[in-house]
Amino acid sequence: MQTVLILLGPPGAGKGTQAARLASALSSPHVSTGDLFRENLGKGTELGKKAKQYMESGQLVPDALVIDMLFDRVAKSDCAQGYLLDGFPRTVAQAQALDTRLQGSKVRALNLAVADATLVERLTGRWTCKACNHIHHERFSPPRQSGRCDKCGGELFQRNDDTHAVVEKRLSVYREQTKPVEAHYRAQGVLSDLDGSRAPDEVFKAMLAAARGEGR
Ligand code: AP5
Ligand code: ZN
Repeated sequence: MQTVLILLGPPGAGKGTQAARLASALSSPHVSTGDLFRENLGKGTELGKKAKQYMESGQLVPDALVIDMLFDRVAKSDCAQGYLLDGFPRTVAQAQALDTRLQGSKVRALNLAVADATLVERLTGRWTCKACNHIHHERFSPPRQSGRCDKCGGELFQRNDDTHAVVEKRLSVYREQTKPVEAHYRAQGVLSDLDGSRAPDEVFKAMLAAARGEGR
């Protein structure tokens, strides 16, 4: 049966960091709507041009654009057995559209909780690899060589939505529009709540166990 794992949690909770590790442990493709948009932005596609203003100001891209892009991606053959969603769904309407698509699939949602002050510290110190999207932090997981990715040697950059002002906006958008998605999956009995403030290895172990349905 197709198995879909959904990572929920505020910006900076560690979804991208953990998704990369979980994807490799579970042999499941990592599908990040944020990465897909940034790819489109980088290539200057029509979709990228439409998403740009929303992303740069910390707002959500309209549902219809996100849902079309995501459904195109997960229709590819590598997702037939299942996949891992990072950054989607972000509104109740997106969750409902996904429910309709996933009838008959197995779904689990993992919800990472982290305090706001920690989120701001994590996001404003984040450095991402241009080539492979690997995520570093200037204090919490510094690269061995300054400005270079540990995984592939690619150039590291700071996202332009990781400034203090835009981070505050993203957190308020999260509270208003994305937080209700938790209740959506809780009501379905498929949500696990996890403490995302611990060290990355501890968070990873807890997420892997929850993804495998252990301790339930
Ligand atoms: P997106 O790229 O999805 O950003 P986000 O959800 O805001 O999440 P982040 O990537 O900022 O955080 P993360 O949880 O992945 O944290 P990370 O692992 O990097 O979306 C960007 C934009 O695209 C949105 O604002 C919106 O405009 C648009 N968009 C995307 N999807 C959309 C959708 N479905 N609908 C509408 N619009 C959409 O970790 C952060 C930092 O902390 C890193 O530096 C990392 O090294 C560090 N860190 C991680 N874990 C730990 C730990 N345990 N201890 C210490 N440091 C840690
Ligand atoms: Zn890299």
